[in-house]
Amino acid sequence: HNRSFVRIVEVGPRDGLQNEPVNVPTKVKIEFIDKLSETGLKSIEVTSFVSPKWVPQMKDSAEVYSGIKKRDDISYPVLVPNVKGMESAMKVGVKEIAVFASASEGFSQKNTNCSTQEGINRIKEIIDIAIKANIKVRGYISCVVGCPYDGQVHPSSVTKVTEALLSHGCYEISLGDTIGVGTRATIESLIKDLLNITTADKLAIHCHDTYGQALVNICIALEYGIRVVDSSVSGLGGCPYARGATGNVATEDLVYMLNGMGIDTGIDLKKLVEVGRYITDFIKKATCSKVNNALYSK
Ligand code: HMG
Ligand code: MG
Repeated sequence: HNRSFVRIVEVGPRDGLQNEPVNVPTKVKIEFIDKLSETGLKSIEVTSFVSPKWVPQMKDSAEVYSGIKKRDDISYPVLVPNVKGMESAMKVGVKEIAVFASASEGFSQKNTNCSTQEGINRIKEIIDIAIKANIKVRGYISCVVGCPYDGQVHPSSVTKVTEALLSHGCYEISLGDTIGVGTRATIESLIKDLLNITTADKLAIHCHDTYGQALVNICIALEYGIRVVDSSVSGLGGCPYARGATGNVATEDLVYMLNGMGIDTGIDLKKLVEVGRYITDFIKKATCSKVNNALYSK
């Protein structure tokens, strides 16, 4: 692993748009992703093959995945909740998927209509299919420090789910602070515990910025050797089953911070600022990125 390189996983098209009440036309989603592909990002989460009854915005997942221009040097993972979603994703030829479980029971029920253990069992079924088809699997764990239904979450709940997902075959676990309640202290103690059961190269961090702590929390993750960070351009998003949760840390702000630390991401910040404007103009929202505001049209 190159110590001075961080791989950013752009989740704007999925985590960013999934909670957007205004229907974003398929054509706009495709154009958005194609523009992201030109910024130097190496990983872009494109969409999710979830139930359209649960998340209507993602109902055009097959069309979006098929419609985008795919570059050989970029991964385009999609979120998959069950075997049905896996079958649909395979029909359009995905090469990487992301599965998701929750460290807390309350969120697991609300987000996937099953317990954490049932969720892990579903994931095992999906991964067994993926491995046979040579499809890479990334794992998410939600509510790694706090849950909108159950409150505080103990690190031991996270280590248990992490061990299960890694043993089933996820190549990496992204630690989701779904409602952005983590602080430097809680994230540090979580990572310390996780490093007793795995290594930093198996971990990624996924911070929603609800309480404005995301960049600080990412910094502590970097100090412990984590080199994969999820973010969403202009801080789009929120989870439909985590009320009050705002978007992910803004990719522009993350790139600016990493540039300042001398850490390479391969990303052209100017181009990224333009893509942030493109999508926030379309959904008629102000950018949530301070860096975007500072740099735009300068
Ligand atoms: P369920 O209602 O228990 O499942 O949902 P079901 O099997 O009874 O199916 C209900 C209906 O959905 C059926 O249709 C199925 O066919 C259909 P009907 O027979 O009534 O006409 N269906 C599907 N359709 C298309 N694709 C599918 C699919 N599956 C079922 N894959 C289920 C269970 C897991 C499907 C549902 O709860 C679901 O889709 N949940 C996903 C919710 C979601 O997308 N949440 C946001 C993503 S996670 C997140 O944001 C967190 C993350 O960012 C990290 C972090 O921040 O923490 C990753
Ligand atoms: Mg999320």
